[in-house]
Amino acid sequence: MSPVDITVVADASEAARLVGERLAEQARAGGHVVLTGGSTPRLAYELAADLEPDWSRVEVWWGDERCVPPENEESNYGLTKRALLDRLVRQPLEIHRMRGELGPDAGAEEYENELDGVGVFDLVLLGLGPDGHVASLFPGFPALEIADRDAVGSAAGHEPFVDRITLTLPRLCSTGELLFLVAGEDKADAVARALAGEPSRDTPGSLARATEGATRAVLDRAAAARL
Ligand code: 6PG
Repeated sequence: MSPVDITVVADASEAARLVGERLAEQARAGGHVVLTGGSTPRLAYELAADLEPDWSRVEVWWGDERCVPPENEESNYGLTKRALLDRLVRQPLEIHRMRGELGPDAGAEEYENELDGVGVFDLVLLGLGPDGHVASLFPGFPALEIADRDAVGSAAGHEPFVDRITLTLPRLCSTGELLFLVAGEDKADAVARALAGEPSRDTPGSLARATEGATRAVLDRAAAARL
């Protein structure tokens, strides 16, 4: 596996600034951008919208979704809408929302169809869970083993404990750039295992590497403490 290009900055807001700049750059360049959920990216999304309010050249996708309606506060789409989409002057060319309200299996099947014919992504943004999960690919869960689908349903392996829809590992990795954004001391172990350890199914993040280009990580000092 190719090494990860790691940038360590002082704190979470500086990490968000770098990722916000990268997202804005991709919005200008166009292409297919895959966004992540969780709480860490919110500031990066806000900054990206401020830096580039015209996203009309990109199509936006998600790496995973919680099986809740879009207006639910746990929705990854909802987070992105509030932090990014609602701030834009021009909306993305296409917004490919995972419909969590359909449930894990029907929602994944619909997304699989939506992805039909879509080639390599340009940028995939990922967070990292304290257990080493990426998107909704949790250690020891069957979804991590699936290689012949683009999107699958899964139970939750981490809070919030609602079912999930997730891209599979090969589909997430089919990208010109895979970018981790991770902050906080509770992530330090997972960061060391995912970015500097041997590839292992116990740490899904250690298996997430761009197959068509670079894998990068922007970390704050606390998350990088055990590297
Ligand atoms: C989700 C995610 C998930 C997330 C990590 C980190 O839906 O929960 O996409 O993979 O990126 O759990 O989340 P935090 O940024 O909240 O720690």
